[in-house]
Parts: sequence; structure tokens; C-alpha cells
Amino acid sequence: MTYRLEGREKVTGQARYAYEYPMEDPAYLAAVQAEAGRGEIVSVDTASARRLPGVLAVLSCENAPPLASRSNGELAVLQSRTVSYRGQFVAAVVAETLETAREAARLLRVEYAAEAPDVRFRDDHSGLYRPDEVNAGLPADTEQGAPEAAFSDSDVQVDVTYTTPAEHNNPMEPHTTVAHWNEDGSLTLYESTQGASSHQRTLARIFGLDREQVRVVSPHVGGGFGAKGTPRPNAVLAAMAAREVGRPVKFAVPRQQMYATTGYRTPTIQRLRLGADADGRLNAIVHDVVEQTSTVREFAEQAASPTRIMYRAPHRRTTHRVVRLDVPTPSWMRAPGETPGMYALESAMDELAVAAGIDPVELRVRNDTDREPESGLPFSSRNLVACLREGAGRFGWAGRDPAPRSRRAGRRLLGTGVAAATYPARLNPGRATARAEPDGTFTVRIAAADIGTGARTALAVLAAETLKADLGRVRMEVGDSSLPAASVAGGSSGTASWGTAVVRACEALRERLNGSVPPEGVEASADTADEVKVQEEYARHAFGAHFAEVEVDIDTGEVRVSRMLGVFAAGRIINPVTARSQFVGGMTMGIGMALMEESVMDERFGDYLNRDLAQYHVPACADVLDIEAVWLEESDPHLNPMGAKGIGEIGIVGAAAAIGNAVHHATGVRVRDLPITPARLLPDR
Ligand code: MOS
Repeated sequence: MTYRLEGREKVTGQARYAYEYPMEDPAYLAAVQAEAGRGEIVSVDTASARRLPGVLAVLSCENAPPLASRSNGELAVLQSRTVSYRGQFVAAVVAETLETAREAARLLRVEYAAEAPDVRFRDDHSGLYRPDEVNAGLPADTEQGAPEAAFSDSDVQVDVTYTTPAEHNNPMEPHTTVAHWNEDGSLTLYESTQGASSHQRTLARIFGLDREQVRVVSPHVGGGFGAKGTPRPNAVLAAMAAREVGRPVKFAVPRQQMYATTGYRTPTIQRLRLGADADGRLNAIVHDVVEQTSTVREFAEQAASPTRIMYRAPHRRTTHRVVRLDVPTPSWMRAPGETPGMYALESAMDELAVAAGIDPVELRVRNDTDREPESGLPFSSRNLVACLREGAGRFGWAGRDPAPRSRRAGRRLLGTGVAAATYPARLNPGRATARAEPDGTFTVRIAAADIGTGARTALAVLAAETLKADLGRVRMEVGDSSLPAASVAGGSSGTASWGTAVVRACEALRERLNGSVPPEGVEASADTADEVKVQEEYARHAFGAHFAEVEVDIDTGEVRVSRMLGVFAAGRIINPVTARSQFVGGMTMGIGMALMEESVMDERFGDYLNRDLAQYHVPACADVLDIEAVWLEESDPHLNPMGAKGIGEIGIVGAAAAIGNAVHHATGVRVRDLPITPARLLPDR
């Protein structure tokens, strides 16, 4: 067990986050957001802004330099007069101080030819279409057998529709860029990003530079959850402004501006049809998903993807339909796809358990499968049943009275619920170097990202293990695009992917080491592209089970999650102390999803109404009572040299369903629209 290597640096304030990099003569940027939900910019009146002493530049569609690439509509900042959603960046002020920049931004007058925005998300929208594919390169639709007929013929039928709202990532550190153009025409970005290498590539393309002419520095990142997995407009805006004023420019997106500009989870409408025999064995599964995207870019979330791998059933169908609305483009948020999809599937499984009169743990065990149902591939390992059994034992599931409202303590109704979890075990190619220094230490370099996950520590542990060296002798360098290129911290792929490159580089170094290290050191490198390409065909996924106990106040409808247990089977756990934080963090986000988080669209103005932490509620410490995450020893030879699966996202998958199922057990009320607020639980009050 290894505590976070940079822990001391962080708690003493030595660890530098993007905004904190000292610059010589920095200027500050404040961005202006569109006040129209859709339309054209008629004019930008900058006179009063420019009159303010200390204003260095005002940028808008009327004077912004053209970008070399506009292929990503979200990043084509200030490139046209078109307003595609309310809150889009339409202008920016650069000034000597942040206060001046903000005051000048307030004085800017933008005139719009506005039209009424179409922002109402619904499943009967005429613009719904089937995307060519959904995220992760998956097919939009799949079908096997005769699902509709099989469903109608089934003894037990569940036909239910769930909705999940738009949700916003709220990392502690906002999206931040410090942009600095060097004298040789190259660009340095101190950036809060989940991927220095991919950020470098994208920004180089946008500014028409070679990849080597952009350097992205991001050793410490204060959370991302997916929102920083792709570059956002702040990076483009800051870089553009820095070139304009010939000085370094600092831009931290204010929390209020993040809600329109840094991504969010799409709302979903999901219809689930489960048909089973009297013993609960599934005969048909139909999962139809409706989602939104923007007019500037397609983002099609893979919400039904977990339904393709979870349970055995001969007849099955999954579909995704998307509608382009005048809204910001949705993006990644912790387990995009699996999180909303498994909320719906695992809630429907609970409804099936109730309808069939079968214990919900037993129902899932009965529908387990040793092959991935749709692909027919064997699983590299699948320990869902073991997670359910282990969790049931630890949680005290035995003897549970299935009847709703069967437990009461004073003015509180108590209930318990269960749900399964799953997340793909991915492996991305990348490079790393390992170097033996003459003083007996080692330096390991890779452009990995530690966004608070403990990645740096896990990689150092792997390096020390491979080099058979004390951890104290390993120096781990991450978070800089000048290091060997690595994949993004996304899709829970980091430790597996970067770890493979680190282990291979360290193995190569060990082979080259014999006797004393020369003064210039000895270095070895690895590139895992070939190794990743020739992986055998297996279905690779982590699995888990959530157990939740809730207490519902019968007068107020307030739900408290009094106990929560997650049991996971995610391959080898590299570093228990940081891994536990990942699981518990995911489960905590699951509490938020179940009970609090909801971005409310104002249909008249076309914008999310809640845009700060006072109005967008995430769990606080007082909301997280007794939460425990454990894991099974799982040995899987088909993954990577470490035998590790990803752990960053599976903690949230299914967590909201377990809580919703517990609320139903406590109260007898099935709330199918998240979040489960008192108003939804006590509709008649
Ligand atoms: Mo994660 S939402 O894949 O960064």
C-alpha cells in the first residue's frame, strides 16, 4: 500500500496547478458568453470596453484571427457570427488584471439577430436520427432473434421508461489555460487536462503548427471526470489571445461559465423491455435510448452498450437515437454510456425481480453468462456472480423481506437495494522511457495524466516492481507532452495502458543493465503499439455489485443513504489505497446522480439554470455516511503484463440504480426520473 507520492507537495501547496505557473508579465482573459440561444451576431460594440485603462485587446468574430482547422465546431472559437447555443464564447477581453478584464467584458455590447432556440429534449422530436455509430466506435443499433415477439410471449414482462437529466462535471479545479508563445513561434500551454499528448495534437492542428511546436504542461490536475478529456474552448481562446497581445495569457474558466462551455452528460430517455419466464430467466431484452447532441458537433453516448454484455437472453435489441438541439455539445462524464445505461437496465432488473417474485441478487445470478451475449466472445474474466455473493454476505442481505415498506424506524422507512456494475477493460498504445542514473536512482517518463487518481503513484509502484528497486529510488515524470506520448486519462484505461508501457520500458532497461551505470546513465524505451494490436479476441470487462441501504423520512421525503457497499472484480489492484479512493469516489458520484444532480434547462432562454455549487448539488461529506468499497482477488492472464483492469469509472456504474431500488424497497414508490427528489417521492404533498 503506497500513499500518494505527491501528497506532501499537494497539502503544502507546492504542487503547481495550471493557473499557478508564474509568468513574466502575464495578461488576464475574461470571456463573454452568448446571450442569444440561437442566431447571428449583428455587431460587437467594443468602444466602452476599450476605453477602460488596462485593456489590451478585445477579440470577437469581427477581428479574431482565422484558425487553421475548424473541424471541431466546439473549438472553432470566434470563427463565425453564428450562435449555436446560449453561453457559447462570443468574445473575450485581455487586460492587465483579471478585474479589468472582467469589468471590460461586462461593458461589451453584442447585438444579436436572435431566433427561438430549440432546446426541449423529448423522445418525439422530429429531428431524432440514428447516428452512424455511438462513442467508442460502437454500432448505434444491434438486434438478435425476434425481440419484440419474444417479449410479448414472455411470462413476466417489464416495460418501463426511465429518464436521466443532463449532469455537469464539477472538478474542484476549473478548466484552466496559461498560454505562452515563445520567440521561435512555438506555443506552451500550462493546462488542466486529462491528456497532454492528445491536447498537444489537437491544439497544433487548430493553430496550424507541427506537433513538436506545442508543449502541454500539466503535472497536477484537480479533477476532470471526463470534462478535461478533450480540449475545451478555453485553451483555444487563451492561445489566440496570447498571440494577439504578445504576452502570456491566463484564463481559468469561472465556475458559472463551465456549465455551457466545458461539457456535460447528455440527458437520456430510456425504454427498457425485459421478458422472462416464470423463473426469471430472460428471454428478451430491448433497450431503446434517446439522447441529445448539439448542432456544432455530434456526440452520441453509448448508453445501451452495457446491455449488450450483461445478461444472457436469446432475443435482444439495443438502439440509440440522437437529436441535434441548440445546446452545448455533451461530452464525457465518468463512465459515459455505462452510467445512464446501467441505471436503466439495473432498475428494470429490480422491477423484474419484483414482478417475478425473485430475489434481485438471485435474478442476476440466474441470468449470468459465460460468453458475451451479443459478440459470443469468451470473457477474459467475469466475476459478477462472485461480487454479488460476496456483497450479499458482507452487507447482510440474507433474510431480507422483499415486501416494500417492511422496515420502519420511527419516522423513517428503511430499504435495501442491489445493482450490478460493469465497465470495459481497455488498453491503449503508448510509449515510455526508463533510465538508470549513475547515483542508483531511476527516472521513468511518460506523458500520462494524474488528475487526482493516483496514477503517478501506481506507475511508480509498477516501475519499482519491474526494476526490483525500492520505490524511493524511482522518480516518476508524468503530465508533460514533451515526455513519451501516452493516451488520454479516459475510459479507465490509464493504469492498464501506461502501466504496460512503463513495465515494458523497465523490462528493457533491466536487460541492458549489467554492472555499474556509466556517467551518462542507461536508458531504454518502449512502444506498446504492436503489443496492443495483437491482443487475442476476448470480451474484457470489469464487474461489480452495489448494495445500498436508504432511510426515507416519511414526512419530508428526504432520502439518506445510510450504508453503501461496492464489491468489484477489476483484475489486479495495483495500489489499494488510491484504488479504494477511486471506487469510493465513483460511488459518491452515484449518490449525487441518484438524489441530487440535475442540470435544469430553461426552455425560454435556452440555457442551464443552475450553474454553481449552490444550485447544482453534489454530495457533501454530510451526505456520505457509511460507504465501503472492497474487491475480489481476480487473476486475468488476457489483459496486460499487470493483469489490471480499469477502476476509475466502474464505481459510479450501477450505483444510482442500487439507491433507487432501495428507495422503492423502503417506500413502495418507483421513481423512474432521476434525481429522486422529495418532490418526486411525495408527489401529492
Ligand atoms: Mo472518463 S469520463 O472516460 O474521462
